[in-house]
Formats: sequence, C-alpha cells, structure tokens
Amino acid sequence: MSAIDMDAFWMPFTANRQFKRAPRMLVSADGMYYRDDQGRQILDGSAGLWCVAAGHNRQPIVDAVARQLATLDYAPPFQMAHPKAFEAASRLVAMAPKGLSKAFFVGSGSEAADTALKMAIGYHRARGDGGRVKLIGRERGYHGVNFGGVSVGGIAGNRKLFPVALPCVDHLRSTHDLARNAFSRGQPARGAEFADELEQRLLTLHDPSTVAAVIVEPMAGSTGVLIPPQGYLQRLREICDKYGILLIFDEVITGFGRLGADWAANKFGVLPDILTCAKGLTNGAVPMGAVLVKQEIHDAFMAAAADGAIEFPHGYTYSAHPLACAAAVAALELYREEHLFERAAGLSAAFEERAHALRGRRHIKDIRNLGLVAGVELESRPGAPGKRGYEAFLKCWERGVLLRCTGDILAVSPPLIVSEDEIERIFHTIGEAVASIE
Ligand SMILES: Cc1ncc(COP(=O)(O)O)c(C=O)c1O
Repeated sequence: MSAIDMDAFWMPFTANRQFKRAPRMLVSADGMYYRDDQGRQILDGSAGLWCVAAGHNRQPIVDAVARQLATLDYAPPFQMAHPKAFEAASRLVAMAPKGLSKAFFVGSGSEAADTALKMAIGYHRARGDGGRVKLIGRERGYHGVNFGGVSVGGIAGNRKLFPVALPCVDHLRSTHDLARNAFSRGQPARGAEFADELEQRLLTLHDPSTVAAVIVEPMAGSTGVLIPPQGYLQRLREICDKYGILLIFDEVITGFGRLGADWAANKFGVLPDILTCAKGLTNGAVPMGAVLVKQEIHDAFMAAAADGAIEFPHGYTYSAHPLACAAAVAALELYREEHLFERAAGLSAAFEERAHALRGRRHIKDIRNLGLVAGVELESRPGAPGKRGYEAFLKCWERGVLLRCTGDILAVSPPLIVSEDEIERIFHTIGEAVASIE
C-alpha cells in the first residue's frame, strides 16, 4: 500500500478517512472471485455492486470491448451515430418486457432515473396535458444521486445535505413491515394495501390530474432488500391506470436476472410504462444505463415536434458510447447463451434454504429473499445504528467474502454463476461473522 498515494482520490459513498486508515484494495478478478492487494482470494457475494451478473472478466465481453476500442473509440451521439448503438438497442428491446419498444441510452442508473422523470413530464406536455408535473416516489427508495433521483428517492441521509430537491414531489410509505412480515420467504404475504395510500392519501391531496408519474423500484435493493408484498405492484399499476399516471419501474438492480427472471416486471406480471436499467446491462464492465419506454410515449414526442426538430432535447456525451454498446451486446448474448436467468431461478430455492438457516442466530432480526438476493437484517446496537452491520461486513471481508451492507442490513447478491458450494460459504461466513461481533 505504501506505494499508492491515496490522498487525491475523494472516494464516493465511502467513509474516506476511515477507509484510508485501513484500505480494502481489489486488484484483479476472475469469475466469482476478486483478488486483493494482499494476494487473498475474495468470494464476490455482491456481484461487485449488484452489476456483475455473469461473473468477472468474462472473455466474450473483454474481447468485444477490446475489439471496439481498437475500431471506434468514440462517436458523438448527437446528430451522429455508430452501428453498435442500434445493435445494442435492438438486442435490449428484443429481451425487454413485451410492450417496451424503444431504448434511450445513458451512462448510469442515476442518469436513467433523471431521464425517465424528464420523459414522463415531457410526455404529458407533448400530449397537451402539461399540468401533470408532480412526481411520486417512495420512502426508502433509491434512484441514484442526481437531483431528480434524490428528490423522488427516500433515503433521508442522502437528502439532508441538499435541501434543494425538486418541488412537486411526494412519497409513498415504504412497504417494509417487519412486525407483520419478518422472515418471509419470497414475497411477503401482507402489505398490498400500502399501495392504496397512493389513491386514498396522495392523489386526494395533490389532485390526480397534476401527477405525471409514480416511480418505484419493484424490489428496493440499496436500502436493504425490501421485497414487494404480494399484490402491491399490481395495485399500483391499477391506480396509475385509473388516473392516467405513468408508472416507472427502476430496474437498475432487478433487471438481468437478479430475481430469477429476466425482469422484475415479468416476474411480477406488471408492465410499467417506463423502465430504467443499468448495472447488469454491460455486466458492470463499462458504465451504461438505459430507459425503455412504451411505443406511445416515444410517439408522443415525435408527433409534438416539427420535422427536423430535436424531439427530446436530452442526452449525454457518453450516451450509447461505443465501448458500452459493445459490452452490452456481448453481455446480453452471454446471459442468453449460458441461460443465466434460468440458472438464477433454478438456484433460488437452495439459496432461500441456506439464507433462512441463519434464523435464530444472535442479532439476526430478519432474513428475506427472492431469486438470488437476500437481506439479513441485524438488530441495531442501541445508540449506534449501522455499527453492527458495518462490523459484520468487515468480518466477512476478513474471512474472504465481499458483501454489501446498508445500515444494519447485509445484502447478498452474488453473480448468477454462483455454485451451491459458494452459496453455502457465503451464508456460513455471515453466520460466523455475526457470531463474532457484539
Ligand atoms: C434502483 C437504483 N436506481 C439507480 C441507481 C443508481 O445507479 P448508478 O449508481 O449507476 O448511478 C441504483 C444504484 O445502486 C439503484 O440501485
């Protein structure tokens, strides 16, 4: 470590001073494993940051990106294009939930969220319904860190330094209800009625004709694996339909097989009007996000603008970046060839069994799971919320397993190539780690 000067890099979402006193440095990766700067092999229990669905350094993706870099490193995406952008969009739309037929590329999940919100408001305006400007998110929702996403998001800690969120935003309550649903396997049985407050409270308060869109993660990942109660998303869909409000699913985590299906939309049988994705889109190899929309949303923009005018004045320098498009085409092909989403579905029962075998251990107050994701929630230490979770995360790291912790919740979301032995090792390590802390 002494060779590396760590002073200049201001690290994102990191306790910088604490980290730099005791860094955790990853230097290479292969398949299910990272290697750290001490030469230790680390089992990846979090698919990087929920993104490496096919495992690390997969050759077809490495080759596709290298080839693209040697052929066309960059092309301006405004009033210009390159063939891989169209190929990536066609591939993505071909595997998207049926009914979402256009793809708009961005550079990240945060950009996808803000793009989706702008599309929703712009769509209503293009149709001559410009009074629909309000956006409804949900408490404990995470839609990235840009101003739109932070505004509709519901993580208090991410908002308090920036008390200048978008106006005209309100929030549904979180569906997290441990009193009724602790230790649920799969979707919790109770809580569909959390959706009713959209109609009964928020739309009454705001007047439905002023609301542009409701945005939710079908399963909230970043705030600790909050699985939607049975019937909840269907109910949100019905209420949005009743009042002409767009429903946006943020599938940045749930897209590409995480829940044991290609998309959460298909898993739950609920089609949103707009869907955002990122992360697994390129297997994490190159930053990229996308917004998928129904044909009529796209067409409303086309119809409202004069021929020759830019219909949606929005986009990024790195929208449809050639390297990202090459990575996306290769990643989507790899998922298909290796049947990875089906694989995730096939492993989910064993994963669930192993996760719930931790029930009854000291400190553990909930275990929840769906597909290849699980949340293990620990009792918070009195007066020190988050400390126990962080210590458990560190103990897992010391034992060679990388997880993600959010407050006192450990999130488990391995690459979809994980073996049953590796699943066993991940949960065994969590058990040991939790037992070793106060
Ligand atoms: C549901 C959801 N939306 C948006 C984002 C933001 O994505 P990014 O970090 O790529 O901007 C995340 C990141 O974890 C996410 O989980």
